[in-house]
Amino acid sequence: MGTAGASWWRDAVVYQVYIRSFADANGDGVGDIAGIRSRLDYLRDLGVDALWINPWYPSPMADGGYDVADYRAVEPVFGTADEAAAMIEEAHARGLRVILDIVPNHTSDRHAWFQAALASPPGSRERARYWFRPGSGPGGAEPPNDWQSVFGGPAWTRVPDGEWYLHLFDSSQPDLNWDNEEVRAEFEDVLRFWFDRGVDGFRIDVANGLVKQPDLPDLGPHDEEGLLLPPSRPDHPHWDRDGVHEIYRGWRRVADSYPEPPVFVAEAWSPSPERLALYLRPDELHTAFNFDYLRAPWDADALRKVIDESLATVAAVGAPATWVLSNHDVARHVSRLGRPLTPGAYSLAHLPPVDTLDRDLGTRRARAAALLMLALPGSAYVYQGDELGLWEVEDLPDEVRQDPTWERSGHTEVGRDGCRVPLPWSGSRAPFGFSPDGASAAPWLPQPADFASVTVQAEEGDPGSMLNLYRNALRLRREHPALGGGEITWLPAGPDVLAFSRGHGFACVVNLSQAPVPLPDGSRLLLASGPLDGELLPADTAAWLTV
Ligand code: NOJ
Repeated sequence: MGTAGASWWRDAVVYQVYIRSFADANGDGVGDIAGIRSRLDYLRDLGVDALWINPWYPSPMADGGYDVADYRAVEPVFGTADEAAAMIEEAHARGLRVILDIVPNHTSDRHAWFQAALASPPGSRERARYWFRPGSGPGGAEPPNDWQSVFGGPAWTRVPDGEWYLHLFDSSQPDLNWDNEEVRAEFEDVLRFWFDRGVDGFRIDVANGLVKQPDLPDLGPHDEEGLLLPPSRPDHPHWDRDGVHEIYRGWRRVADSYPEPPVFVAEAWSPSPERLALYLRPDELHTAFNFDYLRAPWDADALRKVIDESLATVAAVGAPATWVLSNHDVARHVSRLGRPLTPGAYSLAHLPPVDTLDRDLGTRRARAAALLMLALPGSAYVYQGDELGLWEVEDLPDEVRQDPTWERSGHTEVGRDGCRVPLPWSGSRAPFGFSPDGASAAPWLPQPADFASVTVQAEEGDPGSMLNLYRNALRLRREHPALGGGEITWLPAGPDVLAFSRGHGFACVVNLSQAPVPLPDGSRLLLASGPLDGELLPADTAAWLTV
């Protein structure tokens, strides 16, 4: 791809491909690279700029591929290295950049390094790449400290010779020791491996977790409620430690050594926008997911506050803002926005029960939320299926659940499978074109019968569909000089209404109140998330206007 778009990432719309659930070309019930290749025209026509593909490396899939056994190869279930190379080339030929996912906090227990560590004695060089420690208490029978796994239960597992190893996630995901020079060198080499193969960037998994306080002190009483909540205290012994920044300065040097430097996006759940901005200093990472935005309730004041804070904090370090509504770790936003407001809640475990869900309301708000997000300055993320208006599948049978959270929480938290159900492409029955006709296996998670109404095929034929809303919005976003990068100026608006201009006569108005509101005098409609009520903008509706 040319160098003309060297800052393409500053206002790119990035489509997240959760590969297992995107498109299955060989009929084994699991999405694959051939499936992505067969749908590249769909992604180009949707109007996105880049793809972020969740981990596609060899993996036992204990955590959906975030348990990597080999960072320089492709999982055979997903395809081959040659197919990966062809996919990258074909994406580029369509003007689509390709971002991969790197998982530096932990490996799989099947990774050669961990296998070597298990086969080596305490104190060995092989064990030094991970966090092996003697236990506490009589006979070392207790874990070395009180840290908990994000998926539930203790963050330590004991090996036969009596030592314990640290895993902030599943026991099959041992944490690497980033104080170890071999670990640092290895990952810089992995980056080069993929950059040399034309990859345009990396999403960094658990970017805020790599560095641990080497004494591994107890956490003591704390109020973290699981996975992705930001650390609840300063100087946390394993989240967001200052030492991570040196690692990313090194990674940036690697990226900047390429003629068209690849880019990074951090998954860093941070305690404050200011702490997050530290990752985005000019010699560190390019962008980071804005989880404060994802977690903001459907409330005008809350959204305005998070938008202002996000823009101000990234501007201070010269980075662009990013916006995201859903991903493979959170309940889909149709199902979040259709429930009574619960500020900050993003997982089923913390949302009100399903009988409070009004899916039509959630869909209306999701449409408005899409127009709001795509009108903001910076880069935006679309999780596969957002553009179809998919909802969280909340009634998966227990026996099909695969998220390690389900087992590790003792079946108290269902986890994240409900947002990972394979995409419906066409037809009126499962597998809805996800797998080819005559497939040898059913999709790895069952699709609900009512996905029939939200297939790509059904939505293509319906001018009022979510898919056509996204296509229209993304086309306008490309064409309109006001959209993409730039500033916003808030316009006077009634209570519970967000209104802002982006220059060039462009304005966005979002009605979060319960009643219709007038549009600005003399404005002309470019695009609305739902039908207008005469001259009025109905509740839970957004409009793009020329003013
Ligand atoms: C964040 C990823 O998005 C999630 O899916 C994974 O379980 C954890 N990191 C651990 O790698």
